[in-house]
Amino acid sequence: MSNGKPNIESITKNKETKNNEKYTKMGKIIAIANQKGGVGKTTTAVNLAAGLAVMEKKVLIVDADPQANASSGLGIDINKEGLTTIYECMLDGADVHAAIQDTDLENLKVIPSMTDLVGAELELVDAPNRSYKMKEILDQVKDEFDYIFIDCMPSLGIITTNALVAAHGVIVPVQCEYYAEEGLAKLYQTILLVKKQLNPQLEIFGILLTMFNHTNLSKQVLEDVKSSFNQLVFNTVIKRNTRISEAPSYAESVITYDASSAGAKDYMELAAEVDERLNNWKK
Ligand SMILES: Nc1ncnc2c1ncn2[C@@H]1O[C@H](COP(=O)(O)OP(=O)(O)O)[C@@H](O)[C@H]1O
Ligand SMILES: [Mg+2]
Repeated sequence: MSNGKPNIESITKNKETKNNEKYTKMGKIIAIANQKGGVGKTTTAVNLAAGLAVMEKKVLIVDADPQANASSGLGIDINKEGLTTIYECMLDGADVHAAIQDTDLENLKVIPSMTDLVGAELELVDAPNRSYKMKEILDQVKDEFDYIFIDCMPSLGIITTNALVAAHGVIVPVQCEYYAEEGLAKLYQTILLVKKQLNPQLEIFGILLTMFNHTNLSKQVLEDVKSSFNQLVFNTVIKRNTRISEAPSYAESVITYDASSAGAKDYMELAAEVDERLNNWKK
């Protein structure tokens, strides 16, 4: 890793040498993670999920960020009395079905978050099975959905570890306008560590370039990431588009807010690519 080129072989499954276990579809719980803030995690969780919901897939977003941007961006009133959040499910044994909220899209549901998730980091430190809490919750509902996306917070603490333990795959958004190569290496090592110690089935599902604009920097980032991560990089690149940044203030995905926008088209294209990749991803 010191030369900046991660050893991809160690994290992507070597299909040739894989033993003759049953060929089944890859699991569908996907964490969207990058410890850097503002790279497009929440935007990707919401709009990729909406795209798949429009494709008639049943999709759940788990908001695992105390900022609760995915919840509010999909119209959930996070201050509503009696709202059950992922926090209560993980720490107080609340019923996961009571936490699942509807959105404007029939096929898209959310388990909301709120600021108390910050405290959860501390409370979990001494909890038994502290890294498996989210897995225990999601295992109860995973058969009810085609896709479950976990929108992670910008840190690699216990909640994000929980997400990586619950997940089968990780999507890593990388912002084209600012390439944090070291940050990516650190995330990569965390994923490796979780895979080794807590969740052997974890794979990097894909690297997504976000906020692409036609500057030289953007093009350079695209080239660098492709040369490090090769086939892991999604063909779909999300361009910078103002409709994408406007949509959350209307509590909508860009796909419902302005279906004809470039942003909606990019995320629909990503949804199709993700669906195809999942179907081809044999275990
Ligand atoms: N493709 C895009 N075009 C324009 N704005 C974007 C795009 N992707 C994300 N943004 C904006 O950038 C900001 C950070 O994105 P966000 O998804 O919240 O990042 P993260 O969840 O990683 O912190 C938000 O204001 C969002 O609306
Ligand atoms: Mg976010």
